[in-house]
Amino acid sequence: MHEGQAKQREGFSSGMAVFFATLGSAVGLGNIWKFPYLVGENGGGAFLLVYFLCILFVGIPIMVSEFYIGRTTHKNAVGALKELRPGTSWKYIGLMGVCSSYLIMFFYSCVAGWVYYYLFKALKGDFVGITMATAKAQFANVVVGPLSPILWQVIVVGVVAAILAAGVKQGIERITKTLMPLLFLLIIICDIRALTLPGAAEGMQFLFHVDFSQLSAAAILTALGLAFFKLSLGMGTMMTYSSYFTDDNHMFNTAAKVAVSDTLVSLLAGIAIFPTVFSFGMEPGAGPGLLFMTIPLVFSQMPFGDILLVAFFFLTSIAATTAMLSLVEVPIAYMSEERGVSRKKAAIINALIIIIIGVLATLSVDKASLLGQYTILGRGFFDWFDYLSSNILLPAGGFFIALFAGYILKKQDLKYELSNHGTLKIDGLFNVFYFILKYLTPVLLLIVFLNSVGIIK
Ligand code: TRP
Repeated sequence: MHEGQAKQREGFSSGMAVFFATLGSAVGLGNIWKFPYLVGENGGGAFLLVYFLCILFVGIPIMVSEFYIGRTTHKNAVGALKELRPGTSWKYIGLMGVCSSYLIMFFYSCVAGWVYYYLFKALKGDFVGITMATAKAQFANVVVGPLSPILWQVIVVGVVAAILAAGVKQGIERITKTLMPLLFLLIIICDIRALTLPGAAEGMQFLFHVDFSQLSAAAILTALGLAFFKLSLGMGTMMTYSSYFTDDNHMFNTAAKVAVSDTLVSLLAGIAIFPTVFSFGMEPGAGPGLLFMTIPLVFSQMPFGDILLVAFFFLTSIAATTAMLSLVEVPIAYMSEERGVSRKKAAIINALIIIIIGVLATLSVDKASLLGQYTILGRGFFDWFDYLSSNILLPAGGFFIALFAGYILKKQDLKYELSNHGTLKIDGLFNVFYFILKYLTPVLLLIVFLNSVGIIK
């Protein structure tokens, strides 16, 4: 790192800005696309309960730890770990994060491409008079392509790279601050309609009824992976974002508010989707297409539905885009600060990597896709990128971050920074956090891991 670079770094301007920027990273396709379909595939309520526990005992403590690492050093993930423990292997956790960021982007950019494409289709009026059968057929068409999903994926990556090359931080918070509440409102409108469909109660029952016989070891690992994915944890995004935080930010508060708001958005999305699924007699375990098949149907049942559907896909595109900005920011901050590559060049290099490999994901989503028949151990590229990142690398990264914060760093250093150099009274809160971080978080992570590979039952 060069002299004086820390001063040149652009940061978030205030506490509110910190909250909205962080929320902009957390809320994305994870809430609207991944959460509902995983709840659907894994049997509903019991999965949801495990997910909540993962957020509380694993997600929030790791988020606070990442905040500490980023804000105390004001550096990218690799540089931060290097500075805190120079000459050790901890920096490789940062590098592992850079790898995870790519794996996620390979498939995330594909799904974001579908969302942009759906926005375009909604504008054209493709969903007017839609039925369950045509909803399914339209999704199958979009996914199999092959040219249009690649085109939209390239557009998405281009938009993200252009924004990142410009290095805007203030832009992200401002967009999130105005558009996120609108998305929230629109999902609530969706909920009201979905809940008044015939047969809606069955959907609510599916979502909230806890039946542990539905829960497998693999599902527990999936819930854990989803918690990481949702809160953007385990790969340095939150370290990188917190390196731009203001020094007076109450980081426990920020973590709690982000986790609660994010979970609320996911739940509201679930409440829009499951009643619709049951009302139209669809399968809750329909997989990655669940969002795309149900949402046009709910809106088709509403006054002004076609305009509201456009608004929905517009706001979802924005949420997906701000989440992606935070994903690609990790390699970009690393390349520009540790390797001396300009931000612009880093943005171009990353965009190319993501497009070239990401196309493999896009061409392998469905059995009918161009590369759909090529699988390794039963999974195509899309599924492998998703599985490796969410279920392996993010929890592994989180495990090491918890060890680093709980066992390597000094307790008083953590407390000093988290209390904003002693200005906040956080004694009780800190003790609870530290206990969980040291004794619960890593142990839970280990148990879930060993359980899912069958070493313990
Ligand atoms: N949290 C985002 C979502 O739910 C995705 C995301 C952004 C992410 N940055 C991340 C996931 C970092 C894991 C790690 O859509």
